[in-house]
Amino acid sequence: MIKAHALSKYYDVGSIRTEVFKSLSFSVNEGEFVSIVGPSGAGKTTLLNTIGLLERFQSGSLELAGKDVSKLNDAKLSAIRNRYLGFIFQDFNLLPELDVLSNVMLPLEISGVKTQHAKDRAQYQLQRMGLQGRVHHKPYLLSGGQQQRVAIARALVGEPKMILADEPTGNLNSQMAIEIMQLLQEINRQGTTILMVTHDEHLSNLASRKICLSDGQIQEAQPQELASCG
Ligand SMILES: Nc1ncnc2c1ncn2[C@@H]1O[C@H](COP(=O)(O)OP(=O)(O)OP(=O)(O)O)[C@@H](O)[C@H]1O
Ligand SMILES: [Mg+2]
Repeated sequence: MIKAHALSKYYDVGSIRTEVFKSLSFSVNEGEFVSIVGPSGAGKTTLLNTIGLLERFQSGSLELAGKDVSKLNDAKLSAIRNRYLGFIFQDFNLLPELDVLSNVMLPLEISGVKTQHAKDRAQYQLQRMGLQGRVHHKPYLLSGGQQQRVAIARALVGEPKMILADEPTGNLNSQMAIEIMQLLQEINRQGTTILMVTHDEHLSNLASRKICLSDGQIQEAQPQELASCG
């Protein structure tokens, strides 16, 4: 699903260069649930956004779902993003002025899917998330866990091959965090590949594989072998 080879990424701000990662190589197979852990500032978000084609990298190569995305233009990159990827963020990123249903329909409407079809598909995902009774609520009327479930429905509505999640439980209490994690595990069992950044040691160990990003380098280990990272 992901093949990164010698991937390097830096930011230049004025005359100051921050090398986030250098010559990073790793792969994620279809159907895996991989967690990424590492100290704050290690580059986890940058790595996830680079793989999600939200950020460019400077050198190396990246394949997603068998396609070399290293040299594509912006239009091709967003086409791949829409077709293969779903995103979940720590702060949910729901649009406050839209109700739950419209939030979930949005990615389909942007890709030109007809309204009725978008509505049916959004309703199906919301039902799957147990939110059929909340479709006409505005996001602020929902609990944090419910808002994240709306965001998961939105990530799934385009039927992506892979979900990229950046601290999806970071704003939730531990009970809600476990519920969201169980949902992600269920989605993974049904065939969606998941790459998830988390600070939570316990949740990271529930993934099928754990990657540790530290000092711009990757260490891999089976969850139970790696007590902590960095
Ligand atoms: N847009 C940007 N411009 C310049 N530097 C950036 C930018 N985004 C991130 N950085 C720098 O890149 C490094 C990695 O940041 P990143 O947000 O990827 O870390 P992280 O591992 O996700 O941290 P956290 O666990 O705190 O979320 C940091 O040193 C940060 O200052
Ligand atoms: Mg981060």
